[in-house]
Amino acid sequence: MSVLVTNIGELVTNDPALGEGPLGILTDAALVAQEGHIVWVGPATRAPAADYGLDVAGAAVIPGFVDSHTHLVFAGDRVDEFEARMGGTPYTGGGIATTVAATRAADDATLRANLARLVIEARRQGTTTIEIKSGYGLTVADEARSLRLAREATPETTFLGAHVVPPEYAGRTEEYVALVTGPMLAEAAPHARWVDVFCERGAFDVDAARTVLRAGMAAGLIPRVHANQLGPGPGVALAVEVGAASADHCTHLSAQDIDALAGSETVATLLPGAEFSTRSPYPDARRLLDAGVTVALASDANPGSSYTTSMPFCLALAVREMRMTPAEALWAATAGGAAALRRDDVGRLSPGARADLAVLDAPSYRHLAYRPGVPLVRTVLIGGEPL
Ligand code: NIG
Ligand code: FE
Repeated sequence: MSVLVTNIGELVTNDPALGEGPLGILTDAALVAQEGHIVWVGPATRAPAADYGLDVAGAAVIPGFVDSHTHLVFAGDRVDEFEARMGGTPYTGGGIATTVAATRAADDATLRANLARLVIEARRQGTTTIEIKSGYGLTVADEARSLRLAREATPETTFLGAHVVPPEYAGRTEEYVALVTGPMLAEAAPHARWVDVFCERGAFDVDAARTVLRAGMAAGLIPRVHANQLGPGPGVALAVEVGAASADHCTHLSAQDIDALAGSETVATLLPGAEFSTRSPYPDARRLLDAGVTVALASDANPGSSYTTSMPFCLALAVREMRMTPAEALWAATAGGAAALRRDDVGRLSPGARADLAVLDAPSYRHLAYRPGVPLVRTVLIGGEPL
């Protein structure tokens, strides 16, 4: 089956060989998808025939968002904590234990339904690839369950057994790390592609974090790190040291951290939804970009620090609050996310890529930042199929 998307006013391909600038923009364009992949991109007047046609009447079309960082397997919410925070209570990550308790107490059907609801919510806003972490189970059985459920929604699943030390292991971090790197990893690894750790004061120090990442790598998982979110620290350096695909948050960076990222393959994934919802200073995206670091944008969707699945909202924050240009933000939320997940088949709309795209109710991708809070995603195709 083939489908022709035509009358595209502005097509963002993310392939500079196909069009204008780093986003490879074409105007008055069309594309053809076949068996789920892009097979042709070019001027609408020269488009080949296809089995089905979708005339978007001058709208902008962008690659679907690649949300490379979410925590969507959980039960309950923490709206009281959010309200208190808006009244001045700082975010410490201490609330994670609340969600762990609710998640452990929930049955599979409850967790699956909540996850499905949130994944659909994300897709409606243009997300076509999503990474989902465990990390609210923190027992062997609950982490394995979280990853099994996450796998039902995406191949991009991440083992985050080292999110925090759960209450029953308080004061016994070493024993908990032994559990995480032993029986928990053994049960989790078959359902995960990635291993992650919250390397932060109050969570795991650099030695514990290194132990977790190395054990995950030995089990065939690829590392990524929650790094330098709440304060300066060794997380980013550790991410670069182990060759992590991504260092996530990067809110508090030293000059050395930026140099290390710039000379590495590690993507800096910025999560402005977390700074928004914890009322914290935003990361210095300009310094990272100007140093040549590859930057991704993701939602960090979770019930504590960032309860949004909206990539358009994160993109608007990146432009307004972090001084990324609209083009840098769009690239980071699509191709940047793909780089953070080491995927070359998503985050672009050029021949060979998956036909994952969003049609906007707007003439240009720049409206995503220009019209914050407005639901501009009109139609989403995933593998060439309408949502
Ligand atoms: O990425 N930093 C650690 N984990 C999450 C927050 C989890 C929570 O507060 O429930 C984050 O922000
Ligand atoms: Fe996170």
